[in-house]
Amino acid sequence: MRQVKQKYVSKTASQLKPSGIRKFFDLASQMDNVISLGVGEPDFVTPWNVCEAGYASLESGYTAYTANAGLMELREEISSYLSEQFSLSYSAQSEIVLTVGASQAIDLAFRAIIDPGDEVIIVEPGFVAYAPAVTLAGGVPVSLETSAEDEFKVTRDRLKKVITKRTKAILFCFPSNPTGATMSEEELKDITDLIEKHDLLVLSDEIYAELTYDQTHYSISRIEGMRERTILISGFSKAFAMTGWRLGYVTGPEEIIGAILKIHQYTMMCAPTIAQHGALEALRSGRADLDRMKRSYRQRRNYLVKAFNQMGLSCHMPGGAFYAFPSIQSTGMTSDEFAEKLLQEERVAVVPGHVFGAGGEGYIRCSYATSIESLQEAVKRIEQFVERHAEKA
Ligand SMILES: Cc1ncc(COP(=O)(O)O)c(C=O)c1O
Repeated sequence: MRQVKQKYVSKTASQLKPSGIRKFFDLASQMDNVISLGVGEPDFVTPWNVCEAGYASLESGYTAYTANAGLMELREEISSYLSEQFSLSYSAQSEIVLTVGASQAIDLAFRAIIDPGDEVIIVEPGFVAYAPAVTLAGGVPVSLETSAEDEFKVTRDRLKKVITKRTKAILFCFPSNPTGATMSEEELKDITDLIEKHDLLVLSDEIYAELTYDQTHYSISRIEGMRERTILISGFSKAFAMTGWRLGYVTGPEEIIGAILKIHQYTMMCAPTIAQHGALEALRSGRADLDRMKRSYRQRRNYLVKAFNQMGLSCHMPGGAFYAFPSIQSTGMTSDEFAEKLLQEERVAVVPGHVFGAGGEGYIRCSYATSIESLQEAVKRIEQFVERHAEKA
């Protein structure tokens, strides 16, 4: 019977692999006393004033759809925010669409630009949803592997090697999930002539932009010639601690945003109304909360990275997001083996690096969006684990 039903599932859907992150966490959820450094979401609850704006939205009877692109008031607020925080200029009227999380923005962006067989370069190790989103849009994901020697940044040489005649776009995510890598203005400028020469579009997922610790975040869209070929994706999930509100946005040149809006109209209609009212409040008065959470992440980052290096798991200092990506190569285990044994023996959940694509094997992703007490206990357990296995080796 199962086989009969299976035959109705499309080839594309049946060939999609389940997310390596989820698979692992289903296992962890069945165990007691597990410390999770696994999931990529803030441990903070959404600041109270934002929740209140959500309640107020319902009390005021805002229970209907908004405009397809989202509340004009919110688009205006995003336009000012992007200008003040990142020196970007996007029209609220025609260049911003509110989406159901950054996730929907990624899906829409690919569907709006990909024709069958177009290649899209994905910087890896990268967020697990990118390559499947390209495939679902009919495109071909092509890995651009980065490495710890380059602090997981994109270099000219690496980019040159993967561009072909069929390349349509490249997807960047800085600060990066899972490596925490960031790219400076100079480093980005070093590759933009290649992007122009090959007439590529850029999808820039900047959902962790606010969580940049040692330098000011610089969007590739600011570089001369890049604005007209960049689709910028962001949202409220990470920096504003609003993952469950499901609100993101996409901005870019009017023609592309127009195409995105058409697909959004037919598939989603609009992002949740309550969430849009919450986001309005987050942008208007959420700065102090954002800074408070950011200070805490930075402190945890410093603690965790130092601890990894001290226990012999070499770990570069991530410039942003809330992930550390230490190498586990010194243990002689694969990332799957390491993660599975660590979970079974010490009850600490981390994500094996290979699930993030090329260049991820030999690493584990550890989210430090968890309390400092849990991090300290996790460090103690990982240290015990590494020592025990080193003795055996
Ligand atoms: C790089 C990156 N982009 C997008 C998303 C999805 O964000 P949202 O919750 O806004 O859909 C995530 C979530 O983990 C992410 O890490």
